[in-house]
Amino acid sequence: MNQILTTARKSVIPTKKLENEKNSVAKLAFELVISQIKKHSEILDVEFGGSYAKGTWISAEQGGDIDIFIKFKKETTEKKFIEISKKVGFQALKKFHPYVKYSDHPYVEAKIKTTKVNVVPCYNVEKGEWKSAADRTHFHTQFMLESLSGEMKNDVRLLKKFLMNNGIYGAEIARQGFSGYVAEVLIWNFGSFENVLKEFAKISVGQIIGKATKEFDTVISILDPIDGNRNLAAAISEENIGKFVLASREFLKKPSMHFFRSRKRRVKSEILKNIVIVRFQFKARSPDIIWGQIKRASSALNMQLKLAGFKVIRNAAITDEANDASLIFLLDSVIIPELFVREGPEYFNESDATSFIKKNKKTSKLLWVASNRRVCSLDNRKHNEAKKFLTYLLSKNLSNSGVPAGIKKDIKKFKILTGNMHTSKSIKEAIAEMASTDEILFSSN
Ligand code: UTP
Ligand code: MN
Repeated sequence: MNQILTTARKSVIPTKKLENEKNSVAKLAFELVISQIKKHSEILDVEFGGSYAKGTWISAEQGGDIDIFIKFKKETTEKKFIEISKKVGFQALKKFHPYVKYSDHPYVEAKIKTTKVNVVPCYNVEKGEWKSAADRTHFHTQFMLESLSGEMKNDVRLLKKFLMNNGIYGAEIARQGFSGYVAEVLIWNFGSFENVLKEFAKISVGQIIGKATKEFDTVISILDPIDGNRNLAAAISEENIGKFVLASREFLKKPSMHFFRSRKRRVKSEILKNIVIVRFQFKARSPDIIWGQIKRASSALNMQLKLAGFKVIRNAAITDEANDASLIFLLDSVIIPELFVREGPEYFNESDATSFIKKNKKTSKLLWVASNRRVCSLDNRKHNEAKKFLTYLLSKNLSNSGVPAGIKKDIKKFKILTGNMHTSKSIKEAIAEMASTDEILFSSN
């Protein structure tokens, strides 16, 4: 174990060279932002936040952005807060092709060399008097700088890499995984990477990590040490918590570098052919909205498929957040039998039995009384092919499908594919995620 951890640490702790590069990008970006704020009396200060400020960033492709926070006077109106921060971000980073991103509120991002730089507005408030979601960050930074030792910081890096390669790093709605800050909070609570894994390997339902000042209804709770009202686990899906628990158990049983490397996953062809995909384009809207809509659309179609006699094993929704979305369904079979049995009431119940017979007589292929006393009818399904059923549903019966009103217009023009057809890279990735065993999570038994 120790040898593995030593090797893995080497891969996540930035080299002196990389650190120097990061520092020079950070310095440049910081000065550019500073040069812009003088024009705005609403802005009090600028500071680094996130993993760069705390020394918990990792040398990995997805890791180590530079987060710069602009602190606004707390009286600033929301309109000004957004307007001015965008202006400052765009002006400061104008040489680097800046663009707007959305979290709880909009912020500006650009790439300098290989490093992403975020310029994020927040309010200068007292602890606890939060006005925007980014206001806690200053306190997170202070807290972690005071609380994490050098060894713990390196274990944060290790934990981030472990989470990344298990596909469960990142709090964004597309991922619903463990955020960088959650990694810090876990290391702070349990002291080391190994201890975090030991805790999760034997975690129990309802477990509370940290001090809560109120009750939460999530499967586990992870409290923000600077705000006992904030449950960081609320942003993590139960599936991802489960993956972390299994990965922790496996790693402790059989430590290996595989846990810190990316893995290829192959879907078996007999599974691929049982995957149906509804792909469509949508008009731009904010990421939170479109994710909510496609997730609800996916569960609505899941329900419709079930009502029509199909068995859905897993379902998912993906989007590039720009204009392309897909709803993905893994079925036990895309074709189901043409006939099905409609079980009616018991013959003792005269009125129900009579009306059942009346209702089904015309279309029924066979009517009989079964040994369980029930009157039964054998009927033809309207649709026994999943692709045809979905085509019918989306083009002829969309209004009754349960698809959220906000994307009905968009989904009207759709394409239906199966998993074995040629599709996009992101659909392939989603299929691999949904329909192949992650060997490392299930390796030791
Ligand atoms: P980041 O998502 O950039 O995280 O948010 P990070 O800790 O810097 O991790 P990496 O290394 O870039 O992946 C920056 C800060 O914003 C706050 C935290 O204080 C975090 O350190 N934050 C972010 C939250 O409080 N909650 C979130 O869900 C995301
Ligand atoms: Mn960051």
